[in-house]
Amino acid sequence: MPDELFKLLAASQRTLDKGFANLPPNPSPPLGKAASDILQKVATRLQDNYPYAHPLYAGQMLKPPHPIARAAYALALSVNPNNHALDGGRASSAMEIEAVAALAEMFHWPQHLGHLSSGGTFANLEALWVAGQLAPTEDGLPSAIAASDQAHYTHNRISGVLGLPFIAVPSDESGRMDLTILESLLATDKIGTVVVTLGTTAIGSVDPLDEIVALRKRYKFRIHVDAAYGGYFTLAANLALETRAAFDAISHADSIVIDPHKHGLQPYGCGCVLFRDPAVGRLYKHDSPYTYFSSRDLHLGEISLECSRAGASAVALWATQQLLPYAPGGTFALGLESGHTAALKLQKHLSESPYFLTPGFPPQLDIIFWAVRADTPDASSALAQRIFDEAAKRDLHLALAKLPVRFFPQNSWQNSHQIDPQTQITCLRSVLMKPEHLLWLDHLCQRLDAAAVAIFESIPR
Ligand SMILES: Cc1ncc(COP(=O)(O)O)c(C=O)c1O
Repeated sequence: MPDELFKLLAASQRTLDKGFANLPPNPSPPLGKAASDILQKVATRLQDNYPYAHPLYAGQMLKPPHPIARAAYALALSVNPNNHALDGGRASSAMEIEAVAALAEMFHWPQHLGHLSSGGTFANLEALWVAGQLAPTEDGLPSAIAASDQAHYTHNRISGVLGLPFIAVPSDESGRMDLTILESLLATDKIGTVVVTLGTTAIGSVDPLDEIVALRKRYKFRIHVDAAYGGYFTLAANLALETRAAFDAISHADSIVIDPHKHGLQPYGCGCVLFRDPAVGRLYKHDSPYTYFSSRDLHLGEISLECSRAGASAVALWATQQLLPYAPGGTFALGLESGHTAALKLQKHLSESPYFLTPGFPPQLDIIFWAVRADTPDASSALAQRIFDEAAKRDLHLALAKLPVRFFPQNSWQNSHQIDPQTQITCLRSVLMKPEHLLWLDHLCQRLDAAAVAIFESIPR
């Protein structure tokens, strides 16, 4: 944490403490040398990590929290509020309501019901739990959840937990839900809810939400939008037309999940679920004989499946939104736009390389994947692993992903016509989610190219 932030934190801590100055002093016990030694050990152990905050880390979905989020979280920890009930966190519950309203407003919802959660998985679980109760089939059996084969793996598992049938809808050649197949499934009347992913985890593809919304003219089903990763891109002004059209349809969803701990500059432990119809709150109704005493106002635990939740998460999110409001053209939006630009530029660079093979479609958001040129998918997979390791030696940290060869042009391999399009190939993958990635792109490309040269030169001819 930069020194400036420690100073700001100390000053704001003094202000917070003044609020309790009427109480008799109750100083914390001194930490002493033992604590200092332990913290040194902790710091040393934590060196065993990839440098997630640095732009040369361009691997998985990892983005450092904004310094103001760190400071606000740390400040809130001196109170350690619990946003389950107003008894446990009055100010932080109010801040959660405001922070969640800012997210709903970003999606142009005039009213909503929603709250923060521990992450995207739990937020999706709540959305599908509600969906399962509101979308039974005519014969009374639970209706199925349908999601694309590129949707997050937890949707299948969550459906299992909820006792709901799950159907994976194949994706098309660009990784978006195949609408012809979706429509044939909807015609069976077995689907109660379609999970539409705006920003799939592996490749950042954006399902055509606008066209799926249009299908509701012919079929009855709920739409849950999993925008855990991509939701904030609704603020970006540089998306391709079809991607923009999908984001513009988001207000038609029944529920939305967005993760401030992915693109919203928050520490882990901050997901969010939103429902368009506030009346779904009735499904959460429960009695808690131990809580809900201090106020007749809404306790967030009354509209959440989780009980205790970190009030500090709400405080950190609220503070970050004050500094970086969700405004098109604002600093926060420009950061997302630069990630998309970086992905397009990297794809162009890779498409001109003698070593790499790019998919037949451009990145829709800021996630990009590519294969290594080789005679067969197996040989390509082995080379991808070697280049991944070689790049790491040059301090460039990428990711790997297994994806079907059908994402690449058909003539990419020897005897391509004999290869099953579903054959999995290990690809290199990069999530360019830090705004600085664009500035660092030349460094990234130089290191990646050097790693590829080193591996190709080591192959005996
Ligand atoms: C699209 C999508 N949905 C859901 C999740 C699960 O979110 P979490 O890891 O916060 O539980 C992820 C995580 O990567 C995701 O990318």
